[in-house]
Amino acid sequence: MNKAITVGLLGLGTVGSGVIEILRDHKERIEHKTGCDVTIKSVLVSDMSKPREVPAETQLTDQYQDITRDPEIDVIVEVMGGIDHTLTILLEAIEHGKHIVTANKDLVAQHGEQLFEACQKHNCDLYYEASVAGGIPIIRSIMDGLSSDRITKMMGIVNGTTNYIMTKMAQDGVDFDSVLKEAQDLGFAEADPTADVDGLDAARKMTILSILGFSMPYSLEDVDIKGIRGISSDDITYAEELGYRIKLIGIAENDHNGVSVSVEPTLLPIQHPLSSVNDEFNAVYVYGDAVGETMFYGPGAGKLPTATAVVADLIAVLKNIRLGTTGTAYVQPQFPKQVKTKKEQLTKKYIRLHVDDKAGMLNDLTNIFAQYDLSFDQFTQRSTDQDGERELMMVTHQVSEEDFEKAIQDIETLDSVRSVDSIFRVEGGN
Ligand code: NAP
Ligand code: HSE
Repeated sequence: MNKAITVGLLGLGTVGSGVIEILRDHKERIEHKTGCDVTIKSVLVSDMSKPREVPAETQLTDQYQDITRDPEIDVIVEVMGGIDHTLTILLEAIEHGKHIVTANKDLVAQHGEQLFEACQKHNCDLYYEASVAGGIPIIRSIMDGLSSDRITKMMGIVNGTTNYIMTKMAQDGVDFDSVLKEAQDLGFAEADPTADVDGLDAARKMTILSILGFSMPYSLEDVDIKGIRGISSDDITYAEELGYRIKLIGIAENDHNGVSVSVEPTLLPIQHPLSSVNDEFNAVYVYGDAVGETMFYGPGAGKLPTATAVVADLIAVLKNIRLGTTGTAYVQPQFPKQVKTKKEQLTKKYIRLHVDDKAGMLNDLTNIFAQYDLSFDQFTQRSTDQDGERELMMVTHQVSEEDFEKAIQDIETLDSVRSVDSIFRVEGGN
């Protein structure tokens, strides 16, 4: 006989409505896999007056205690977003013995440890597959599929909104504001899209991946974050001419010096597999000592892809309930936190600058670069429509972040340098 399981849903927006749809459309499949009959008893919303489509047995509420304190509710699915208020709600739910499934990367990146401790104490499950890369089962792949390996690097496109914006800007020449509006209308963007555009959303996801992948308590505050606002159509064109495509890439590396995590616009060789990941799609490269390179690709945002991951987590909880193994999934990080210094972080850089077109100018520049042991892989220049001006584009060989920052500071003091316009990381290639 099937076991009856009662769910409380927090949020009925893009993802919440997808969860209801999948539970309805895949009802028999889920029952077959879990041996459980799932009913969504209550849904928390903020605006009770909005028209909603919910199953007949489901009631709406704007009082979270109706859900957290309801003794009939076994599992809470949190798809409302928010940090502090949502943490309060989930901690109260855990105290009442509810298992938690959440898509909320903001919350997990910032308060994951606190939630895990509460869950351990109360023998509850906490799953959050949808918090990173939407419909791609990347957390499960890292935690289960690659659990026998030592992960050394993860690199990926983990924000659908910015990838959508940059794809449309590069392919169709659409302007930033109108394509952002499109991403919002399609349900990819966060309630506050600055989190997408300024790289914070991707940084939260890379923090979650780093903690799990490297088994180390890494913090969001340690991530170097740059968003996509600084990318001009000139940069997109020049990067293409040099053989690169610009993408917002999260990179997490772990070596004997420790871990470094960054999110920034990055030039990738056009033939690199991540260069052809377009629209709202995400992809994550995972490098393991034993497995080598693996790549995970799929839809990174949107109603049904995200809800698929949420319901897969719910299925995991149901199986644990059936087996009597809830509250056992969490493993404390194995290693103490070790963050790489800027001197230890080595990267290649792309620089675009405007300079006076006069004798000795290049010499001044190369003298500074030589001081910091900085050499070039690619160099190109062109005239501009300004009198006596040249525009220079360069790609460096590997340099430490610390030396590169000092070199740029020195360059900005040169009289012949009119502006340093763009600086981006370069990955892949030789
Ligand atoms: P959304 O469309 O804005 O929906 C949010 C829902 O939560 C709405 O139903 C809203 O109520 C309700 N809500 C928000 N704050 C509330 C509060 N304080 N009290 C009661 N109800 C509240 O958001 P979404 O796009 O579905 O995203 C939900 C979560 O999933 C977020 O954490 C997001 O980061 C994450 N996520 C989203 C995607 C995606 O593609 N959209 C992908 C992965 C993860 P009303 O309906 O009354 O306004
Ligand atoms: N705003 C997020 C994105 C939703 O665009 O990737 C998925 O986490």
